Amino acid sequence: MLHRMNEKIKTIEVPGIRVFSNKVAQMPEGINLTIGEPDFPTPQKIKDAGATAIANDLTSYSHNAGLLELRKAVSSFFEDTYHFHYDPETEIVITNGASSGIDAIFRSILTEGDEVILPVPIYSGYEPIIHLCGAKAVYLDTTTTNFLPDPEQLEKLISNKTKAIVFNYPSNPTGAVIDKERMDKLVQIIIKHEIFIISDEIYSENTYKGTHVSFGSYSEVREQLFLVHGLSKSHSMTGWRLGFVLGSKKVMDQILKAHLSNSICASLPSQYAGIEALSNCRNVPNEMNKSYIKRRDYVYKRLVDMGLSLAEPKGAFYAFPSIKSTGLTSYEFATKLLNSKQVAVVPGSAFTQYGEGFIRISYANSMENLIKAMDRIEDFVKSLSSALDK
Ligand SMILES: Cc1ncc(COP(=O)(O)O)c(C=O)c1O
Repeated sequence: MLHRMNEKIKTIEVPGIRVFSNKVAQMPEGINLTIGEPDFPTPQKIKDAGATAIANDLTSYSHNAGLLELRKAVSSFFEDTYHFHYDPETEIVITNGASSGIDAIFRSILTEGDEVILPVPIYSGYEPIIHLCGAKAVYLDTTTTNFLPDPEQLEKLISNKTKAIVFNYPSNPTGAVIDKERMDKLVQIIIKHEIFIISDEIYSENTYKGTHVSFGSYSEVREQLFLVHGLSKSHSMTGWRLGFVLGSKKVMDQILKAHLSNSICASLPSQYAGIEALSNCRNVPNEMNKSYIKRRDYVYKRLVDMGLSLAEPKGAFYAFPSIKSTGLTSYEFATKLLNSKQVAVVPGSAFTQYGEGFIRISYANSMENLIKAMDRIEDFVKSLSSALDK
């Protein structure tokens, strides 16, 4: 029956990330630097809140938009941290991870022939849904602008087919953080055109250099903005599947319909855990960041010392060095590194063709593993350059 299936789904490739992580899992001495999730357990108080909810039979459906108490906690979090307000009654929907929020947004705004601008290289979770909606991704190359979108280039790409632009800062895969000056310029352009902003700020709490500025703080684009967030990264809760979408009331009424047809609501015990995370565990990301910063500094220095060029990662937990000097494609580099040194990284080409020539290294791993992995990568890079010299 394959021939009766949607042709669009058949052309979507399985994310490159999985290939390498599956292979390294079979290697006894393998070190997996492909993982895009915190390596800390979910904090005990949050686990207890989820377990208590289950013990108390709080295991039913909730309101489709999520428990009002959790929406209020989300609203207060943004108000206290970033100083803007979204109404918990009408402007916040709790989703199954940020992923299901992103899916609901695209399904609610896109129709056949629409275009969505993606500053690339970019996380691989957006384009398949854009494609399934019959829309097309239009790439905004950031490889020559420190992995940040250039406002002039953006303006050139906007056409009457453009429906939305996606921003993801801090960035997966580059670790880039966007600055307010640039955001001011981008916002000025976007206001002129009736396009949506989908700002996936899931790594905002993992900002190490400068302060995170949210697109939510620009009241002039409030009607155009969908703000996507969640607890997967900030509170090490990837498996709990909790995300949020914030937007103005009229558009959120529509998002809620897409969300409810796909999930009804987010898991109820997870929602109780989420209330605990946002009400009583606000400092958790800061604690985790202390470790990420040490690891980031270490990995950054080692990569620079071994001669790979890379922009300093300022947020999320990824380094994105260039491997162009080795003469290998990113896929060849990752394959040879894995086979010869049992270290798995993600080829940059997994983040569109604009990631070609780079690899993504996740430093959400123990210092012990990072030390071993950097030693092995250094040996590997040296072996490549001595082979090139011959
Ligand atoms: C940029 C970005 N957005 C969204 C997600 C998905 O988040 P969630 O686990 O909350 O669905 C990820 C996961 O790696 C990500 O890197």
